[in-house]
Amino acid sequence: MDQEQLKQQIKQLVAERDALLMAHNYQRDEVQEIADITGDSLALSMEAAKTDKQVIVFCGVHFMAESAAILAPEKTVLLPREDAGCPMADMVTAEQLREFKAQHPGATVVTYVNSTAAVKAESDICCTSSNAVNVARSLDSDKLLMVPDRNLGRYIAKHVPEKECICYEGYCPTHDRLKVEEIEQAKKDHPGAPVVAHPECTPEILALADHICSTSGMYEYAQTNPAKKFIIATEMGILWRLKKDNPEKEFILPSRALICPNMKLTSLEDILKCLQTMEPRITVDPETREQAKLTLDRMLAVPRD
Ligand code: 13P
Ligand code: SF4
Repeated sequence: MDQEQLKQQIKQLVAERDALLMAHNYQRDEVQEIADITGDSLALSMEAAKTDKQVIVFCGVHFMAESAAILAPEKTVLLPREDAGCPMADMVTAEQLREFKAQHPGATVVTYVNSTAAVKAESDICCTSSNAVNVARSLDSDKLLMVPDRNLGRYIAKHVPEKECICYEGYCPTHDRLKVEEIEQAKKDHPGAPVVAHPECTPEILALADHICSTSGMYEYAQTNPAKKFIIATEMGILWRLKKDNPEKEFILPSRALICPNMKLTSLEDILKCLQTMEPRITVDPETREQAKLTLDRMLAVPRD
């Protein structure tokens, strides 16, 4: 079956199943192209919470589908590739978080959405890359545990200096491997092009950035900033929509290593199969779900800029 036939069949089944096809901004081009909604982690969680569709097909990684299942328990949440995990989310277990909490009694636990439901259930509030600073500022506590991403944690610490931020030692392997020399080389090759970086990058990379934001923030920045060329320090999947929405602008990826293998697993064939079989389905046990939902709801209640 060619791509066009595959897309046709997917569209037909999406309608028949009363489904919403969601894709994260790092998904393959053809997956983003066919999705009803593309977005960052926060936008997709919010859509999952409010959709009136019965089925959510989540083209992303496991923790994202889990968040959808937590926020919309009455819906059927499908993850076309069950093996699409997030190595950063897997760097902390609920048991390890309990030990971390025991080492820092009284601190408020701020957990990045890139985490398992069990870890969320052990936390006080969640955050995403687009609301992390607002979430940290909104809390009464002066002592925060940032879990699991040390890079996002250090970024928050810099912007919320009035609070003590203790970071867990997790990281995103894709963003963490971007090198300072690669950004410096890109700046040399493209003088004047602003560097736009995701807060999962290391502090050394963020120090070289002109703008730091979530994946969705990058679309906004590219549209509103008058520059004609941008150096993009995040996963390469972002380029598809950046180029589509800004055909007159140029987007430079500073490294060929900016690929998340998990985000690239989902193919059109996987989506079709998943709609045909209504598998793999992602569920969260009710007790964990209740606790994890509290942390996501607290995050969603924090006012946005
Ligand atoms: P955002 O989409 O929230 O910017 O997160 C990036 C990411 O790494 C998701 O896995
Ligand atoms: Fe996880 Fe990084 Fe891949 Fe996002 S890009 S899913 S944080 S490994």
